[in-house]
Amino acid sequence: MGRLQLSFLCGRWHNMDSRFRAAHPLYKWFFGFCLLLLIFVFSNRFPNELPNAQNANTVSLLSRIVNVTLTPQKYFVKTAQCHIPFVNPFNDEVMKIYKPQTFVVCSNESDLVTSAYDSQRQRYVLHINQQVAQELLNFTDAEYNCFYEEISYGQHVDTYDKLKADKYFTDGYVVPKHVEGMLLECQTAEEPHKVLQRDALIFIQYQPDEPTPKKRASVPRKPSVIMYGIDSLSRINLRRTMPKVYKFLKGTGWYEMQGYNKVADNSFPNLFAILSGYSPDTAKSQVCDTDQSGCFEEMSMIWHYFKNASYLTAYAEDESGSNTFNYLKPGFTEKPTDYYFRPFLRALEEETEVKRLPGQFMRYCMGRRLANRYIYDYCRQFMQRYVKERPIWGMFWTNHYSHDDPFMPSAMQNKVLTDLTNYRMDGAFDHTIMIFFADHGTRFGKLRDLNSGFLESRLPMMFIYLPPWFREEYPSYARALEINQNRLSSNFDLHNTLKHVIEIGGGIPGMPELPKSYDCPTCQSLFYPVPEDRTCAQAAIDEHWCTCEPYRTISHLGWTDRIAESVIPRMNEYFVEKNLTHLCSNLSLSYVHNTNIKTGLDISWHDELPELKEAVYRTKFKVQQNSADFEATVVFNNVTETAEVNVETISRTNSYKEDSTCIEDKIAKLYCICFSDLKP
Ligand SMILES: *[C@@H]1O[C@H](CO)[C@@H](O)[C@H](O)[C@H]1NC(C)=O
Ligand SMILES: *[C@@H]1O[C@H](CO)[C@@H](O)[C@H](O)[C@H]1NC(C)=O
Ligand SMILES: *[C@@H]1O[C@H](CO)[C@@H](O)[C@H](O)[C@H]1NC(C)=O
Ligand SMILES: *[C@@H]1O[C@H](CO)[C@@H](O)[C@H](O)[C@H]1NC(C)=O
Ligand SMILES: *[C@@H]1O[C@H](CO)[C@@H](O)[C@H](O)[C@H]1NC(C)=O
Ligand SMILES: *[C@@H]1O[C@H](CO)[C@@H](O)[C@H](O)[C@H]1NC(C)=O
Ligand SMILES: *[C@@H]1O[C@H](CO)[C@@H](O)[C@H](O)[C@H]1NC(C)=O
Repeated sequence: MGRLQLSFLCGRWHNMDSRFRAAHPLYKWFFGFCLLLLIFVFSNRFPNELPNAQNANTVSLLSRIVNVTLTPQKYFVKTAQCHIPFVNPFNDEVMKIYKPQTFVVCSNESDLVTSAYDSQRQRYVLHINQQVAQELLNFTDAEYNCFYEEISYGQHVDTYDKLKADKYFTDGYVVPKHVEGMLLECQTAEEPHKVLQRDALIFIQYQPDEPTPKKRASVPRKPSVIMYGIDSLSRINLRRTMPKVYKFLKGTGWYEMQGYNKVADNSFPNLFAILSGYSPDTAKSQVCDTDQSGCFEEMSMIWHYFKNASYLTAYAEDESGSNTFNYLKPGFTEKPTDYYFRPFLRALEEETEVKRLPGQFMRYCMGRRLANRYIYDYCRQFMQRYVKERPIWGMFWTNHYSHDDPFMPSAMQNKVLTDLTNYRMDGAFDHTIMIFFADHGTRFGKLRDLNSGFLESRLPMMFIYLPPWFREEYPSYARALEINQNRLSSNFDLHNTLKHVIEIGGGIPGMPELPKSYDCPTCQSLFYPVPEDRTCAQAAIDEHWCTCEPYRTISHLGWTDRIAESVIPRMNEYFVEKNLTHLCSNLSLSYVHNTNIKTGLDISWHDELPELKEAVYRTKFKVQQNSADFEATVVFNNVTETAEVNVETISRTNSYKEDSTCIEDKIAKLYCICFSDLKP
């Protein structure tokens, strides 16, 4: 008997009327026979893919095998209260739209001026490459000169001071210690000058540690932490677009938090949870309003703790207008970290030639280099200068290539792999903990519209690397991380883990124990095993973001539209509450894309659902106003037709950029269709 015929026959039997099944004595025998036969057949075929037969409900195992797909479901997490399904990153659905992108270079010219760090002198030295100069001079013996303008931190923390006057330099020039960034230009000597090359260099200048040798010796080693972040990259899309990077991240010492589930919609609240332990709402009621200037100084951010624990700190991010603390947020009023990239970024954006890729909004090249190259070179220098000798914390984040196009990371995978292998070559991985992560996955567009879009948007990648010395000194922490790879975790756990790192190193003088995530009292350091029966609520993951509990698509019946219809009045009431009715149009339903019902973990996908008066639904719908798309998680009562929904958890699943230009509120922007932006 062929495999398909066998499945078909057994499947038919399995689908038979349940009364008959219960009554017919042969059924059990036949069922058992099919099961054995199938396990035999398929265990040969998919030796690594069968779920642990002891854990699996045998009936659902059988039906899964029997039913069409022929591949049993794999899971990122399968614990008592949480089943997060694994998504094949190359499934048929996605392969219809996925094409790896080609990498676009910013410049084909070789570097005329390079800098090298002389560790003996602890100084940067500029080198002018004579051969490149000859090429740029077309092999004439024309004279040329090189100059630089210093970029310095501005009076205002947000930007740079006016560029300093031109300084002439020659090969072998030793960069003064106060220079942290420069724009340089080499030009022919005779008039009119011809520019040979322009470039920009950013330096991490070495600051010697204050001599505190006695204290150092008695305290346990403080582990450094470097956070390498890429905006909007899910663990599914990482596997799809950057398989080489994924392979690197499977190496020794790396742990993938496969149950890491975001706690909010977009970048800010997700990163803020990691960096402060608060949600913006709670911060507003308990500490300060993150929309108000000065709040990020008033809040105890993670870098304040690291600084007080005598770490050197750094923060770098690209795209000054769209980045975490500045997009519709006030930014900083004081330099937040010892090394702070933003002033240099502003100079690069203003003073160099900027290139964007066709159809893309964010800056791709600044001068001769990729926007993200500045960020990760800064990261590399920071580690090169310090990681061997004193504790550091730094976060290095890029938005520009992954935010707008979910498939662009495929073009960048060699670049990212080079960053990682460079860090390894430098020996950074002998010393530092590294967190390689994202804030969320793809939130809008064609990838989001697939069946897996729900998971795609909610499961950012999260990898944690522990250096060998740390694994040796703290084997139980390494073991816990290994266990936690397949348990549910959230941003607030990561926050506690960072605090735990500080405590491991002796804490802050007078403060050996630090306050844990305010918004999640049941969260914990990932260096301890997370409870096996953890729920989303225990990890402070709201129902709408929770990927633990399965939903099933219900076919489009008349009554399912009423769910979406009951959500829209809540959204209109929200505009009234927020006093936005003079700016935002009321919404009305265009049509429902699909509706899903939460089934609970006990019901396997083939069981018939009981009739329920009240259930949790996920409804994806379009409104008439500018064809905006939304996805809401709703408790809907089928009898009274009432819906409970927290409007601020509703997802906007297409871009709102052109729909809400009349308001600044980061959250209301998702729902508001401005009268001024209404399309006819
Ligand atoms: C670099 O060279 C490639 C291949 O010749 C070319 O397609 C590309 O346009 C060049 N890029 C720049 C920025 O000159
Ligand atoms: C070298 O030749 C190129 C191409 O002809 C020209 O654009 C450039 O200005 C020349 N460079 C110098 C320094 O004369
Ligand atoms: C860090 O130390 C300063 C000075 O003692 C103190 O004002 C501040 O509250 C501390 N912050 C944190 C987060 O420990
Ligand atoms: C918009 O919706 C609000 C809330 O339901 C309602 O009070 C108001 O009358 C509506 N406005 C219009 C013009 O329909
Ligand atoms: C509502 O908005 C209007 C117009 O901007 C303003 O005049 C009014 O004071 C606001 N009311 C409240 C309660 O915020
Ligand atoms: C098997 O899956 C198909 C869709 O892939 C579905 O139409 C069918 O109803 C399923 N069979 C059972 C027994 O649920
Ligand atoms: C909701 O009510 C409709 C009839 O109005 C019924 O067909 C449907 O099965 C009910 N849904 C659930 C989940 O009970």
